[in-house]
Amino acid sequence: MTLVCMNNQLRVCVLISGSGSNLQALIDQRDAGSLPIEIALVISNNPEAAGLQRAAKAGITCQVIDHKLFEARSDFDLALAAAINQVKPDLLILAGFMRILGSGALSGIHCDAINLHPSLLPLYQGTHTYQRALDAGDSEHGASIHFVTAELDGGPVISQVRIPILPGDDSESLAARLGPQEHRLITATVELFCRRQVSFTQAGVIIDANLIHNPLQLNSDGSLGQK
Ligand code: GRF
Repeated sequence: MTLVCMNNQLRVCVLISGSGSNLQALIDQRDAGSLPIEIALVISNNPEAAGLQRAAKAGITCQVIDHKLFEARSDFDLALAAAINQVKPDLLILAGFMRILGSGALSGIHCDAINLHPSLLPLYQGTHTYQRALDAGDSEHGASIHFVTAELDGGPVISQVRIPILPGDDSESLAARLGPQEHRLITATVELFCRRQVSFTQAGVIIDANLIHNPLQLNSDGSLGQK
């Protein structure tokens, strides 16, 4: 699927489950005029998600689709897809969405979806990524943004940010240091969608008709580039 942004404006739908600090980063860059996005809808599976307050404060339409209220997982997926399709987004952004997007949801939506995952994929798909990186004795950790496919945290990786693991780090300190970098990564990556043609095939991510062999890396100046 190819994304073409008319006038750079990208209409997005954001899925959250918790604090919504990455959603806030998108809102802040939008408000600063540096990210040409329209956040058409924020959906949370968690009625208590603090991110819902952030969205409401920014005047963004919010919807709660509580997975606990659905007996069958497939019904939750269908409800999710229906809500997403109603606002016809160019891009679906999973920013701290702690549910797996099931096949019913994925096949039911009409746009690409990207997910922010707190590890240097393909390392540490799934949960507890900070502790797993520490337990493995890794020297660095990071976050990735990838296209969402049927494989959990397994779609083609678009971009990454890396941070060193420091002596004495625990999962809390790592998460605290990674958070602000994730915010930079998500805004830079969404900006990439606003500016260019981005697509993927089984071979990987294609940007401006070129297959990239490695994920783009976030530079200290906030730009994304090949290493
Ligand atoms: C982020 O660390 C993301 O990597 C993980 O969940 C966290 C979401 O944070 N999947 P927030 O809700 O955006 O503050």
